[in-house]
Formats: sequence, structure tokens, C-alpha cells
Amino acid sequence: MLTDRFGRSIEYLRLSVTDRCDLRCTYCLPKGFKGFEEPQHWLTFDEIERLLAAFARLGTSRIRLTGGEPLLRRGLPELARRIGALPGIRDLSLSTNATRLDRYAPALKAAGISRINVSLDSLDRECMEKITGHDSLPKIMAGIMAGKAAGFLPIKINMVAMRGVNDDEIDDMAAFCIEQGFILRLIEAMPMGATGRDAAFLDLGPIQSRLKEKFNLRPHASELGGGPARYLTTADGSANIGFITPMSQHFCATCNRVRLAVDGTLYLCLGQEEKFEFRPLLRDGASDAELEAAIRSAIELKPQQHDFREQPGKIIRFMAQTGG
Ligand code: 5AD
Ligand code: SF4
Repeated sequence: MLTDRFGRSIEYLRLSVTDRCDLRCTYCLPKGFKGFEEPQHWLTFDEIERLLAAFARLGTSRIRLTGGEPLLRRGLPELARRIGALPGIRDLSLSTNATRLDRYAPALKAAGISRINVSLDSLDRECMEKITGHDSLPKIMAGIMAGKAAGFLPIKINMVAMRGVNDDEIDDMAAFCIEQGFILRLIEAMPMGATGRDAAFLDLGPIQSRLKEKFNLRPHASELGGGPARYLTTADGSANIGFITPMSQHFCATCNRVRLAVDGTLYLCLGQEEKFEFRPLLRDGASDAELEAAIRSAIELKPQQHDFREQPGKIIRFMAQTGG
């Protein structure tokens, strides 16, 4: 088991397979952004497989494929299959914006991805165009429904809630998710990069109380999912709504994850600069034992918590660069 300096066991790795994205969500990437990583710096599938195998030997059991938009990385189903086959990996999932999911859902399911999270901030076509910079809703909806048809379970819908942007759509989104059998998760925008800092922050505390009343929700009896969301459930237990509140109520004490960027940089925290570069080791012929030792020393760097509230200007990189 990998354990950090604060006694947290790190069993979950989020792997960003590309920092590129076909959308430009206002809170994530600036319009016209060009600062993407060079392809020669991308870890190859062989390098990813080797590094993740080392993580798995040290107790990492859950992997999530993220981006940017992960479906932009060519051959993703093949990579998923290779990661899912590593000894010790018992859960493989994917976060996507779903614009290309209609095409790839069956292949990804067959490759061993069991469940997906989809970013969807609005059910209104114009509002989605404002947020994502593209008329993206029809493709996204087709993708989500293809995901449902392919049998991903559960499907979680991630909605970054922003004051004056989409906060008037939260109830509609909750009703849609309850009806479709999706798990809605409302997320507070984090000040990652200038884009994140400019997002109109909405405290989810009051929203939680209102939804509880309106949909007759109660606190979920047990922990649900392996992450920071706190869930409310309907009276018959058939639907759940999660709240991810990094700003109003942070959850760093139970953080169980690290993030590997496409260039082999391991980020130890979304809201801090601590990182460890694995690409040089992989390309300079490090042995498996050396990789494992490097992973252990990288985990030692994991900071206690983010300073998003105390120092909102600290993190310059955008979410798509770290892996959302
Ligand atoms: N704050 C919170 N979440 C963000 N994401 C991207 N940027 C931010 C931000 N500044 C998350 C959203 C999106 C996923 C890809 O990354 O949840 O759905
Ligand atoms: Fe792309 Fe996701 Fe960032 Fe939107 S939030 S621009 S879909 S990476």
C-alpha cells in the first residue's frame, strides 16, 4: 500500500491521456488556447502500461482515464484494455465530455471500462454553446444515450454549478438524471488557472438544502463511490445526487488520489504545485525497482491540502492540463 505523510492511502490514479479538448468550457480552457503538450512528450502506451503496472504493484487498484478529452487520444480502447489487464487493477473508469461517445461507447465497454462520468453543465442548447464554446449539446446527448445503451453503470453526470450561468437549471438537471437513472453530481468551480478563477462561484450548501426539500431526499446511508462527493438519495433509494464542494467544505483529509498528466508529470494535488516527473526515468532506462522507489518518494511529496480559498491565484495551470 502507498501511504502518504498524513496517513492517507493512495489507491486511485487519474490518468490524463491527452491535454487536448474539442470544447472550451469557460471555467477550464481559454478561447484560442495553444499551449498544449508536444506529442513527443506524450507518454506512449508502452510507457503508460509500464508505469501503471508499477503503481499497481504498490497497491493502486483504481484507474480513471481523463483528459483534456480522453477520446481524442487515438487508440483509447486499446490502452484501456491494456490497463484493465494489469494485475491489481480492479476498477477502470472514464471521464468524458461525450462528444465522441456515440462512436466509441461499445468499444470502450468491451475494453473493460465499466462506468463513466460525463461533463454536462446544462440541458439548454444555447447555454451549452455559451459554456463550451460550441453547439455541443446534440452530440453530447447522443453520446450519453449511446453510453447508456452500451451498458455503462453507473453513468454520472458532472455539472459545474455557476451563479448566473446555469444555477437556474439545477432542478431540471436533477429531474432529468432521476428519470434517466443517472447520478447527478454538482461541483463547485475551483480557481484553477485564470479561467477557473473567473468562473462565477456558487456555494452548494444552500442548493443542497433546497433540493433535499424539493425531491424529498435524505442523506445516503453509506459511502457511495470512492471519492469526495457526499450523496443524498430519494425516498425509494432509486436515485442519488452528489455534491462535490472543494471550496465551501473541502475534503482533503480523505484524499486518496494522484494525477498523472500526459507528459508523465505526477501531480500530487489539484491545488498545489508539488509534482514528480516520470518521463525522464521511463526514457532513461530506469529499472522496475527504480520506478517503484520513485513512486514511493513522489507520494511523500503529497501536500496536506489545497489553498484554493487562502491563495486563489496560486495555480496557473488549467484543469485540462492536470487531468480533470
Ligand atoms: N473547477 C471545477 N471543475 C472543473 N473542471 C474543469 N475545470 C474546472 C474548474 N475550474 C472539471 C469539470 C469538468 C471536468 C472535465 O473537469 O468537472 O466536468
Ligand atoms: Fe474540455 Fe472538459 Fe475542459 Fe470542457 S471541462 S474544456 S470538456 S477538458
